[in-house]
Amino acid sequence: MNIGDFHRGRRLRRTAPLREMVRETELRPADLIQGYFVVDTPDAGFEKPIGSMPGQSQFSVERLVVRVGKAMDLGLRSAIVFGLPQKKDPAGTGAYADEGIVQRAVRRLKETYPELVVVTDVCLCEYTSHGHCGLLNDHGEVLNDPTLELLAKTALSHVRAGADIVAPSDMMDGRVGAIRVALDAAGFSHIPIMSYAVKYASAFYGPFREAADSAPAFGDRRGYQMDPANTREALREAAADFAEGADILMVKPAMPYLDILRLLRDNFDTPIAAYQVSGEYAMLKAAIANGWLDPKRAVLESLIGIKRAGADMIITYFAEEVLPWLK
Ligand code: PBG
Ligand code: ZN
Repeated sequence: MNIGDFHRGRRLRRTAPLREMVRETELRPADLIQGYFVVDTPDAGFEKPIGSMPGQSQFSVERLVVRVGKAMDLGLRSAIVFGLPQKKDPAGTGAYADEGIVQRAVRRLKETYPELVVVTDVCLCEYTSHGHCGLLNDHGEVLNDPTLELLAKTALSHVRAGADIVAPSDMMDGRVGAIRVALDAAGFSHIPIMSYAVKYASAFYGPFREAADSAPAFGDRRGYQMDPANTREALREAAADFAEGADILMVKPAMPYLDILRLLRDNFDTPIAAYQVSGEYAMLKAAIANGWLDPKRAVLESLIGIKRAGADMIITYFAEEVLPWLK
């Protein structure tokens, strides 16, 4: 016998059916949540492509409804909606207005497609004139506890409009608990919270800030989002949100933080979500546009890698594109 005769890994890689038989991870349409940007505009036909996110656009409510319908024909099951209001102010009042842009979009989506799982991003940065995720004090610092009440109001208004899941992305301390209490008190104890529990202060949100017009007017988000260098802190953040009643814990971004996804998977028996963010999308799209990467293989590999690392579900701008490939 020669070396290699006992273990021959290639035996199970010889044919496609054999490879499929031993495949450990699978990507399913139900795992994918597509991100959409909806604009408050009187122009019902509004659709504006986002330069740094080829294939993605800002839509009017009516155009969004059409686009989501097409995606559902391809098998889309879930969407997360981000709003661009007409006006912004220091307290981000558009975020929790009953006739706010996300509230109206959610109402239209749910009345048109009751079976669509609609997720809303709960944050103030798209609605504040200063672009930060909460209220500011006179020194331009984001105030934690006074912001909680506004986040809870925002989540409640989304749920009243028909949201199936609320996803707070602000990184204020105690917001999951504040939202849980507010939802329960209003009779929505059945609505789950998907917490952006482990959200890093990342350069990869760059294209999103163009898409959602939510760049901070001064400073950055390092005073509330996590330091990319930290691992143990991710466990503390996840534990805090879990204790406050988060039903799903999210890691964001995804590809540079696969170790963190695995860490949460191994430490929590709750569903884990990953957010493949705008910069990850832009990076892949740019390389694909140059002919440097094969679109189908590269995109599917990026998503299977995220699932393999521990994600049960993935928010990704590639959802619409990959659905036909999963058939
Ligand atoms: C709002 C929010 C952001 C993203 C999701 N929700 C931006 C930010 O925190 O700066 C980023 C998503 C992406 O880059 O695709 N807080
Ligand atoms: Zn924000």
